[in-house]
This record gives sequence, C-alpha cells and structure tokens, in this order.
Amino acid sequence: MRTSGAIREDISTAPDGAAEAIHIENLHKKFGELHVLKGVSLSARDGDVVAIIGGSGSGKSTLLRCINCLENPTSGIIRVNGEEIRLKSDSHGNTVPADRRQIERIRSRLGMVFQSFNLWSHMTLIENVIEVPVHVLGIKREEAIATAEKLLARVGLSDKRDVYPAFLSGGQQQRGAIARALAIQPRVMLFDEPTSALDPELVGEVLKVIADLAREGRTMILVTHEMKFARQVASHVIYLYNGQVEEEGPPEQIFGTPRSERLKQFIRNIG
Ligand SMILES: Nc1ncnc2c1ncn2[C@@H]1O[C@H](COP(=O)(O)OP(=O)(O)OP(=O)(O)O)[C@@H](O)[C@H]1O
Ligand SMILES: [Mg+2]
Repeated sequence: MRTSGAIREDISTAPDGAAEAIHIENLHKKFGELHVLKGVSLSARDGDVVAIIGGSGSGKSTLLRCINCLENPTSGIIRVNGEEIRLKSDSHGNTVPADRRQIERIRSRLGMVFQSFNLWSHMTLIENVIEVPVHVLGIKREEAIATAEKLLARVGLSDKRDVYPAFLSGGQQQRGAIARALAIQPRVMLFDEPTSALDPELVGEVLKVIADLAREGRTMILVTHEMKFARQVASHVIYLYNGQVEEEGPPEQIFGTPRSERLKQFIRNIG
C-alpha cells in the first residue's frame, strides 16, 4: 500500500488549486500509417467526471488505453497522479515504456472497466475482487476479503459472493468488474463504454452504480454512448472527432448549446 506521504508527494496541482489526477498534453497515436490521435489534451482534477463522446473510430478507446499504458503514445505527455509516463524509442523506432516498474505503479492507480465483461472466469466473484489486492499489492487476505465484501455490497452483489462469472447476468458481471476495479483503491476510474454490451434492461443498474460513484466525488473518465447519462453525471464533456477534440465544455453547453456543426449532427443522430 502507498503511504499518504507518498501519495501527497506526487500530486500535481492545477492552476485553481485542485489536484490534477490526469493530465494529457498534445497526445498523438499512430498505428503504422493510421494517425488515430492527433494532438489530444485533457485534464481531470480530483472529483471530476470527464465524459468522452464521439463516433465509432474517433479514438476514444485508444485514448483511454494510452492513459492505462495499454498502448504507447507516439508523442505527447501523460501524467497520472502528477507522474509523467516515461517513454523511449526501441531499436525499431517504436515508442515503448522506459521503466516497466513505473507502468505497474501507474496502473495500480487506475481502475479500468471495459465494454465486455472482463472478470476472470475461473474465479468466483470474491476471488476476482481480491486477486490484485492480495497477489499484486500484497494486502493481507482477510483484509482484502473484508474490503471486497463491502465493495460487493455497494454494487448490490453480496449474495453472489461465491458465484462464478458464468452464472451472473451481464449487468451483474459488469457491477462485479466495477467492484474489482475499486478494490485497488484507484485514484481514477476509467470506463470504456461499460454498458454498450448489455441488454437494454440491464443498463440502468450499471449506470446507477457509476452515478453513485460520481456523487461520492470519485474521479472518473468515462467513454459512453449514453448521452442522457453523460449529461447527468459529467462535470466536463469532450467530443472527439477523428482523433481531435472538436468541442469540449460543461454538459449543459455540449448537449444544450453545441457550437460545432459536427457535434450538433452527432447529438441529433445519437439522441
Ligand atoms: N491495435 C490497433 N492497431 C491498428 N489500428 C487500431 C488499433 N486499435 C485501434 N485502431 C484503429 O484506431 C481507430 C480508433 O479506434 P478506437 O478503438 O480508439 O475508436 P473508438 O472511438 O473507441 O470507437 P468505438 O466507438 O467503435 O469503440 C480505428 O480506426 C481503429 O481501427
Ligand atoms: Mg471504443
């Protein structure tokens, strides 16, 4: 576990005094010839809920995957918790992490929930939730179980504690995935379309859990196609178009008085 001293040390401070949990500057990502992210900048301070919206292929998942070090950016700056991800060029000219241990440290500050349910199928729900705390973070098993039980209660899954993922509904699996992500006590939660693989009747229960987290002041970056939801929970909305931030602002502006023609059309089509 990190000590509070260590946490405080690497917190950077935004101009208005709030601590900056995520800072991205002029991020570019190319896959070969395909230039997917073309100079994206964003910032999430403690308690911010940043919603990222945009059409399919606009680069939303790639952006989240760069924050979580699942993709290496081609250029640009990413700071998590004040710590800049250090990259270098390998012998083929590809950008790779300069320090593997740093990547582990950065990942341990981020809770990630993907579109498709990603619980480990060979473990019960509670085993899923305690796995990383016990085996990666070195937390005592009893302590991890006590925390996991609280988290499962919070997402409404206490009664499914010893059940394998195959016996859970999609919505339950996704709530379980949220509990698992929370178990590492992340500084920031990253969600990549957490409800888009769900049957419509299961979407609400997952959105409710995420909305509760937002109300508690948890810092989140949320890629979503649920525009009504983004409008309700986001403190800031970013509309990505073709790898660039086409427009951003508070939800009332983005959804109420959008300026860009592309955004207007996007909202018309999706709404
Ligand atoms: N590993 C990869 N290799 C090559 N191209 C990739 C890779 N990952 C993503 N891409 C391409 O990058 C572009 C952006 O993809 P990305 O998944 O970020 O879009 P998205 O905005 O999340 O779309 P969606 O709403 O459909 O999830 C797409 O053209 C995609 O084909
Ligand atoms: Mg995506």
